Formats: sequence, structure tokens, C-alpha cells
Amino acid sequence: MTPVLSPLVNERPVPGHHPRPVDAVRRLARALLIVYLALGPFATAAAQDTAAPTDPAALAARQVERGEQWFRSACLQCHAIGAVSNPDFRLKWGGRTAQDLFDLISRTMPDGDPGSLSRGAYLAITAYLLKLNGMPVASAPLAADSTALGGVRLAFPATPR
Ligand code: HEC
Repeated sequence: MTPVLSPLVNERPVPGHHPRPVDAVRRLARALLIVYLALGPFATAAAQDTAAPTDPAALAARQVERGEQWFRSACLQCHAIGAVSNPDFRLKWGGRTAQDLFDLISRTMPDGDPGSLSRGAYLAITAYLLKLNGMPVASAPLAADSTALGGVRLAFPATPR
């Protein structure tokens, strides 16, 4: 181990000097610290990859999950899940666009504090409401772009879930 670590910590064995075990431990600790500092950014980037996928389909699934969390924290107190996923809701919103639904909730909800969430949160909630009503999760997340959102036609299956 020592011959490998020595160049890293720039220590040559002194002739006739027998390193004590504690020296070896110190050298190992310093070598590990150097390796850690060198690899730290890569390790962090890898961890972030797991936390935030870059694959569009995975991002779309994640958006729906976040939408559910937002719905539970900001909407559920007034709207039971069943109140926004039922035949009436689908009849009302079917044939309209994701932009229409996004527009309504982002301008008027939560009732009493409209517009208080971020655009991303309203988008995520919109994605969640589509999923809740039986639309398949899209191959990419809903984008914060009214033209793109206006192109997402709401088409609910007759009997979701
Ligand atoms: C303080 C109570 C309250 C909160 C919180 C609230 N809403 Fe509402 N919401 C209402 C009321 C009242 C209406 C209007 C009556 C109705 O249409 O049911 C409404 C209407 C709606 C509608 C239209 C209903 C329909 O059938 O089309 C949607 C969609 C909606 N809310 C979504 C949300 C979302 C999403 C959130 C969270 C960001 C939210 N609401 C938070 C009270 C609330």
C-alpha cells in the first residue's frame, strides 16, 4: 500500500527509518482525503443524477409525483381526490387543453390565496390531475409554455382506473 500512496502524499521513506503504524494511518487518511477531494464533485453529480433524472419520461413521472405532493399540501383541504377525479370533472374538462386547466388553477386556486404557488407547482398539479383522471403519463413533462400546453388535448378514458 505504501508504495502506491507515497507519490500521492509526496513522502519518500527515509533510509533506515521504519515508519510506525501511526504514520501509515496518517498517510492513508491524507491519501483518502485527497482522493475524496478529487472525486467529490463527480460523486455529487452522480448523486444528483439519481435525485433528478434527465430522461424525459422519468421527468414526466417525477412531475406527476410532485403534483400529488403539491395537491396534498395545497388543495386537498378543500378538494377530496374524488372531487377532482370523477365523471363530472372529465365531462367538464375532456376536449379542452392542459393550458385551460393550468390557467384556471394557477389564476384562481388555492381559493383564498390564488397564484400563491410557483408555476412549476401548478404545472405539476395539472400533470397530476390528468393522471388522476386516467390519462397516461406523457413521454415528457408538461412544459411551462402556453403554446405547448395548449397543444395537450385532454382525452380521458371512459373508465379510468
Ligand atoms: C380554501 C378551499 C380551496 C382550496 C385550498 C383549493 N380550492 Fe379549488 N376550488 C375551491 C372552490 C370553492 C371552487 C369553486 C367551486 C367548485 O367549482 O367546486 C374550486 C374550484 C376548483 C376547480 C374547478 C372545479 C371543476 O370541477 O372544474 C379546480 C380544478 C380546482 N378548484 C383545483 C384546485 C387546486 C388544484 C387546488 C390547489 C392548488 C385548489 N383547487 C385549492 C376551493 C378551494
